Amino acid sequence: MPETIDGKKIAGQIRQQLINRVKSLQQKSISPGLAAILVGDEPASLTYLKIKKNACAELGIDYNLFHLPEKAKESELRKLIGQLNQDKKVSGIILQLPLPKNIPLEIIEEILPEKDVDGLTSKNLGELFKIKNFSEVIAKKLLVPATPLGVIKMLQELNIPVAQKNVVVVGRSNLVGKPLAQLFLSLNATVTIAHTQTRNLAELTSQADILAVAIGQAKFITAEMVKDGAVVIDIGTNKTAAGLVGDVDFDPVKEKVSFITPVPGGIGPLTVTMLLHNTILAAEKQNLIP
Ligand SMILES: NC(=O)c1ccc[n+]([C@@H]2O[C@H](COP(=O)([O-])OP(=O)(O)OC[C@H]3O[C@@H](n4cnc5c(N)ncnc54)[C@H](OP(=O)(O)O)[C@@H]3O)[C@@H](O)[C@H]2O)c1
Repeated sequence: MPETIDGKKIAGQIRQQLINRVKSLQQKSISPGLAAILVGDEPASLTYLKIKKNACAELGIDYNLFHLPEKAKESELRKLIGQLNQDKKVSGIILQLPLPKNIPLEIIEEILPEKDVDGLTSKNLGELFKIKNFSEVIAKKLLVPATPLGVIKMLQELNIPVAQKNVVVVGRSNLVGKPLAQLFLSLNATVTIAHTQTRNLAELTSQADILAVAIGQAKFITAEMVKDGAVVIDIGTNKTAAGLVGDVDFDPVKEKVSFITPVPGGIGPLTVTMLLHNTILAAEKQNLIP
């Protein structure tokens, strides 16, 4: 019987554990704080930030938005990041993407790695790519990009085995595809990463025990591209006339699989929850709390 994974429910369970970590920090007079930077007024970014703000309020994490105009200069953004790096009340900094065209993505490197709760600086991505086993993510308290970490957390909460499975990750961004593939590898899966230049994509995806898709193409993965009984993780979010849909053609694919994440209500809530986890982790590390 195919199971639609309830990302909201799993995220809620994880948030209960996070509330206890926040309380324990507060007992030591430490308040975890998240600083979000937005440049411009991209509607989707405003929506995502509202969700992050509400999630912080739910857990008792201080949240502050620093909103710069679309035409802000790179130097202004650099200055702001520098100030937030120095601010002891700020445990974590996120720079909401996408950035306006005049600002290079490399500006992320200005964020101190210990405050980089999106895990996107070279230092933090480098630490992630050095590990052999997933246990090192926990032991070394690594700040890992929230969406890939959310995918793994979800599979662990559902006791879905990963070791020795054939995993296909479609998409190779630094934000999702590549770190997700590395996490699967660290859990001893055999991993293939596919992208726009991949030949015979359907042949590859239809051999996957676990198929994770992050491409931003509405309903791109059809039932013919999926193996019977597979676990399908749909990370994509695409605005269409019919509302928000994923990269997977949900209804027909659902009939074939053992587990599938819906869009919305699948990976989205876990992504936000893992950002909160990273913010708390950053506060714990900055205050030398074991
Ligand atoms: N739910 C969440 O919390 C969450 C979080 C982050 C992202 N997302 C969503 O996930 C999706 C991907 O995000 P991203 O930041 O990784 O996007 P991205 O940077 O645009 O990367 C997209 C990747 O997909 C590949 N791709 C695109 N079309 C393809 C096709 N037809 N066949 C095979 N590969 C294809 C691209 O290949 P090339 O490298 O060859 O161009 C690229 O590697 C988006 O819909 C985004 O909104 C959701």
